[in-house]
Amino acid sequence: MASCPPKSKFKITSNERLKELKEKFEAKFGESPLFYACGPGRVNLIGEHIDYCGYSVLPMAIEQSILAAVSVNNSGMIQLANTNPQYQDFKVSCSEEIIIDRENPKWYFYFLCGVKGIQEKFGITHLAGMSCVVDGTIPPSSGLSSSSALVCCSGLLTMEANQKSLSKVALAEICAKSERYIGTEGGGMDQSISFLAEEGTAKLIEFQPLRATDVRLPEGAVFVISNCCVEMNKAASSHYNIRVVECRIATKMLALSKGLDPSRMLKLSQVQTELKASLDEMLVLVDEVLHPDPYSREEICKVLGITSEQFCTELLSANTQNVTHFKLYQRAKHVYGEAARVLKFQCVCDAGSAESLQLLGELMNQSHASCRDLYECSCAELDQLVDVCLKSGAIGCRLTGAGWGGCAVSMVPSEKAEGFLKAVREAYYMSDPRRASMEKQSLFVTKPGGGAAVLLEE
Ligand code: GLA
Repeated sequence: MASCPPKSKFKITSNERLKELKEKFEAKFGESPLFYACGPGRVNLIGEHIDYCGYSVLPMAIEQSILAAVSVNNSGMIQLANTNPQYQDFKVSCSEEIIIDRENPKWYFYFLCGVKGIQEKFGITHLAGMSCVVDGTIPPSSGLSSSSALVCCSGLLTMEANQKSLSKVALAEICAKSERYIGTEGGGMDQSISFLAEEGTAKLIEFQPLRATDVRLPEGAVFVISNCCVEMNKAASSHYNIRVVECRIATKMLALSKGLDPSRMLKLSQVQTELKASLDEMLVLVDEVLHPDPYSREEICKVLGITSEQFCTELLSANTQNVTHFKLYQRAKHVYGEAARVLKFQCVCDAGSAESLQLLGELMNQSHASCRDLYECSCAELDQLVDVCLKSGAIGCRLTGAGWGGCAVSMVPSEKAEGFLKAVREAYYMSDPRRASMEKQSLFVTKPGGGAAVLLEE
């Protein structure tokens, strides 16, 4: 059986963050935590907006994480507090049905997604009572997956508190599914890397079946994360789900053009598999079948032979019911092109030649251009930041995560790292007081971190 998340012991005196969290927990709940759980954030190196189309992605976990202190008790309640005073306390009875309010994406709903996922998996009618204090170091709404890290941390600690056991892969799948209660139709990359990450290596994450393979990053370069300081909350806007819907419709159009049954086809990768075609052939097919002008609802219904009601119920999600036009050509072009770039990135890393850095940098730059121009998931500030990074010495730079704000990731030759940080600081952050005030947590070197774990005090 695939391995479970590790349980490691630690000395409270050796870890400042855990020590402070323990003190806060004791002050809040008047008892000591029984255990701790953590789930890391992630940076995606390449492969954006293709996980929900069935294609592999290449992220690594970062050091920043969600950490929770937990006690299990007979209170019959789940009581939640957050070390960040911006986030309110919350409690819910263990015998009540867990309801997640999509209209109102509060922090604790992400926590409840994890609880609900475990509850459903095991059919638990009465969850163990628990008190938790949550502490986060991942900047929220920045594309580094703070929300999935919270869902994963909560799924893991709920499993532990209820004395259940699951493999990392099962946990990742449960958390990916249960985070969709928030209303965003995410693809599973974030939860997978949060559980399957291992220190020192990036991972190629493949879906169906879910698995993670080590990708050794080239020597001689570091990865630097920089936040453009525009917040993007996926759950509070419909950008993300519109892209998911556009890909779903493109799938059906392409399937139909080749005589496949469109009602069975949900993801762009399925069409490729059924046709036994290469990604290059899929790009040609997109050129032949789809047109660059946006499609109206009427045109889509006509081509697919469906009614307007079917269109709304079978293709649209709750928050995309009012969308009138769909860019199918551009989205499908991005997805097949990006899927090919991920595989090339992996090959270059495996080959480890003298030109590796140059080749990887080019792939990252092409990925950003495709996200910006075809997928339209960047924004002016993020494009400006990517430009600044390239001018400051990055070999490759691209937006990371969902986009429309948040972070860029740059690959920088190790010997240039210091100069790079200085130049980006001056050109992007110091020129603007709001950005300058956020600079410390917005610009940093990162390396592949470990996955979610339960921690026990020695
Ligand atoms: C978010 C989603 C992921 C993925 C990325 C874009 O982080 O949660 O599943 O789709 O956006 O690559």
